[in-house]
Amino acid sequence: MAMSNATQGAIILTVFLLPIVTYLYLARSQQKSSAGPLPPPTEITNIFIHPIKSCHGLTVRSARLLPTGLDLDRQWMWVTYPNYEFLTIRNLSKMTLIRPTYNAETDTLAVTAPAPDSIDEKLHFEIPAHPSSEWLSANTEVVNANIWGHETSAHAYSPSLTGPFNAFFGKEVRLVYKSPFSDSPRALVSNGKKSVLGRDASTIFPDLMPILVGCESSIDELNTRLQAAESLSIDVRRFRPNILVKGDKPWDEDRWKTIRITSKSGKDVFTSDVTQRCARCQVPNVDPETAEKHKRQPWDTLMKYRRVDEGIKYKPCFGMLCVPRGEGGMLELGMKVEVTEVTDKHRIISGF
Ligand SMILES: *[C@@H]1O[C@H](CO)[C@@H](O)[C@H](O)[C@H]1NC(C)=O
Repeated sequence: MAMSNATQGAIILTVFLLPIVTYLYLARSQQKSSAGPLPPPTEITNIFIHPIKSCHGLTVRSARLLPTGLDLDRQWMWVTYPNYEFLTIRNLSKMTLIRPTYNAETDTLAVTAPAPDSIDEKLHFEIPAHPSSEWLSANTEVVNANIWGHETSAHAYSPSLTGPFNAFFGKEVRLVYKSPFSDSPRALVSNGKKSVLGRDASTIFPDLMPILVGCESSIDELNTRLQAAESLSIDVRRFRPNILVKGDKPWDEDRWKTIRITSKSGKDVFTSDVTQRCARCQVPNVDPETAEKHKRQPWDTLMKYRRVDEGIKYKPCFGMLCVPRGEGGMLELGMKVEVTEVTDKHRIISGF
């Protein structure tokens, strides 16, 4: 007796498809639960801006969040001359002694550094913090700066302005600037590239992503270990985060996937993808106040228990790298930070 098409269909569905669909459904819910429940909301306790890459940072009460990162954060960088190759604390620890300060009234950035062979003399120059294109054409030239093997267009300041700093570096250098509204943006790489993130996004001169978020609970836990090992306690600013939050359980940020920041009035809401953990080098061994580099810590301690990312097994992780979704507004201390998605699938795509 021949079966009707409908009966055949029903049998195929039950015997073959149903188990597959059930399996997929279970696998998915398994996946969800293995990343765990969402943590409770936390809040912003500090905001840091580092106008010049690798130089001293500013502690601020508020900052404008742009798609490329916090306004004024890492929009400047020192480069070699004539190759325009980026310079960081990795090349020269004492770069942390270069101090930018921001004057909101005049909208200028004043930059100082200790003068060589002098105790109290300082090198000094001032530049507009938000230069107009007229100012830039009069005082800078467009060059291709090299950062982590990629070229990106930037404005190099005239040595008549920054020249005295050659003595600080012990060689000829240039300061370069890139606007957050550049028409040749520096596209994100690693987990921020379009094929992974799903959209075009860019930043200025951070190593990788626009924003680094750190948790107090995690730096406190690390300090407990450093105290026990070497009676040492370090300031979170060594890790150069932009946003510090209270945090929940130490290192719980490892699984954050999306965060939402809300102002007290509920008016301003920023959503940000958390693309990956931040794999660290030995920059945090440098005390930004003195520029002294500790021989072992916190690197040795971090290497013992913070090699937590499958994608980059020989580097310890601290902090989470974020890419804001779209235009922002003012971020302020005390704003609420909610983790809206968690994942157990974070894996750094290494290489620049
Ligand atoms: C500075 O250090 C970086 C990272 O270690 C390296 O890639 C670069 O070549 C160094 N630059 C110079 C001029 O030594």
